[in-house]
Amino acid sequence: MKRETVIVLDFGGQYNQLIARRVRECNVYCEIYSYKTDLEKIKSLNPKGIIFTGGPNSVYLEDAPTYDEKIYELGVPILGICYGSQLMMHQLGGKVSKAPVREYGKIEVTVNTQSKLFENVSEKTICWMSHNDYIEKIAPGFEIIGHTPDCPVAAVENTEKRLYATQFHPEVLHTQEGKKMLSNFVFNVCGCAGDWKMDSFVEESIQAIRNKVGNGKVLCALSGGVDSSVAAVLLSKAVGNQLTCVFVDHGLLRKNEGDEVEAVFGPEGNYDLNFIRVNAQERFYEKLKGVEEPERKRKIIGEEFIRVFEEEAKKIGKVDFLVQGTIYPDVVESGVGGESTVIKSHHNVGGLPEYVDFKEIIEPLRDLFKDEVRKAGLELGIPEYLVFRQPFPGPGLGVRIIGEVTPEKVRIVQDADAIYREEIEKAGIAKDLGQYFAAITNMRSVGCMGDERTYDYAIALRAVLTSDFMTAESANLPWEVLGIVTSRIVNEVKGVNRVLYDCTGKPPATIEFE
Ligand code: XMP
Repeated sequence: MKRETVIVLDFGGQYNQLIARRVRECNVYCEIYSYKTDLEKIKSLNPKGIIFTGGPNSVYLEDAPTYDEKIYELGVPILGICYGSQLMMHQLGGKVSKAPVREYGKIEVTVNTQSKLFENVSEKTICWMSHNDYIEKIAPGFEIIGHTPDCPVAAVENTEKRLYATQFHPEVLHTQEGKKMLSNFVFNVCGCAGDWKMDSFVEESIQAIRNKVGNGKVLCALSGGVDSSVAAVLLSKAVGNQLTCVFVDHGLLRKNEGDEVEAVFGPEGNYDLNFIRVNAQERFYEKLKGVEEPERKRKIIGEEFIRVFEEEAKKIGKVDFLVQGTIYPDVVESGVGGESTVIKSHHNVGGLPEYVDFKEIIEPLRDLFKDEVRKAGLELGIPEYLVFRQPFPGPGLGVRIIGEVTPEKVRIVQDADAIYREEIEKAGIAKDLGQYFAAITNMRSVGCMGDERTYDYAIALRAVLTSDFMTAESANLPWEVLGIVTSRIVNEVKGVNRVLYDCTGKPPATIEFE
């Protein structure tokens, strides 16, 4: 696909993905490459602009990450951020040394609004700083276009060579006008048109898939999650019923989820695809009988999933292509930025069988971030409730049932969770929460209902605020909503006489219970 591209050259900064996202928010395609990628490769990508990221090193130390200096001669605009700015100055004849005053946090920067980088930015603007080193002397040909009381060189430019650098991080939201600065770089400096849009992505992908697949057979493991659903629909639009989707109902899905997935993708659904639903509930329950240890449970569910999928694949016969819903963060995390391409086999469904007989893997979403996958999903006409659904772990309710999994506990947690979700939505607070669900503890305790003594399970409710699922805070849910949920669960779900709320963050807890 020919499209204008901005390259992020990664020097080990924490925010490399954020930079790429911000550029893409300008409708300009952006990819991240490691600083170890050689110049010829970068040249071959024909970038409209290059951004050097931050990084934890000091440029003046031996072994600090560096780059081929010929990059400055390509005539391609470059923006250096933090470490990237220091590297640019260091390589082009300036001086970087340990800062007399370290800056960390939100700092007011005075910028030269005549610069293309700061067009329509306020003269005094709050930026995110995090540096121990500073630019003591700028490189010849550059001019200072930003400073703070403690940082004489917060931004520089060489307009002739179209080289720009900022000591602060425009990509993080704490930099109040950071988006504008990056958009200025992309449009004013690089001259991008901003024509990378979801409809063109969908159209181009469909064409590319058709060319690749020809009249071959394609197999997709569909979990009903966002990524695999979008991948399946894209493939279905491209190759129609050359595609077969296998959906394994392992009996650990949320209430009615199996039927919901079937309603969308099955014969009565919105798409013309071969859909196979495998009702393997009993098989999974049988395997899980008597097993309490969380890791063991996860392993059993993952392995059994593969067995079922493999059996179905064998029935279909030789397939040419296997579809995976790998998305860009998976690609970046598995180190594709470097020289070699690692295909991450782990996915929502808990890994795919290596021994399914197929020729090639198709990963139609490997260039997209999660929010872009969602946009593509909407573009493809997938219902909103599927596109915006919360993450759901591959092992499903298996990790929300503490201790042994039994059909009774599955029923209890499904019913309690459905009530909880319904009330959260009714209260209009769903969009504020990162993830929320009910789990069934392995604890039974004494209660009284009517005049009867009960000895029943306790349900634990969880709701977290998180942006990346790596860390999370317990959400401060309105007491009133918790009250309604509690009352409904104990009244409507047989086998429950107590409801608890999990106030723990991650760390020290995890989001899921097992
Ligand atoms: P934890 O429990 O590790 O969860 O804090 C972080 C996020 O990952 C999801 N999760 C999984 N997703 N397969 C998945 O596809 C899994 O085995 C799995 N385990 C946890 C969890 O729902 C949360 O969003």
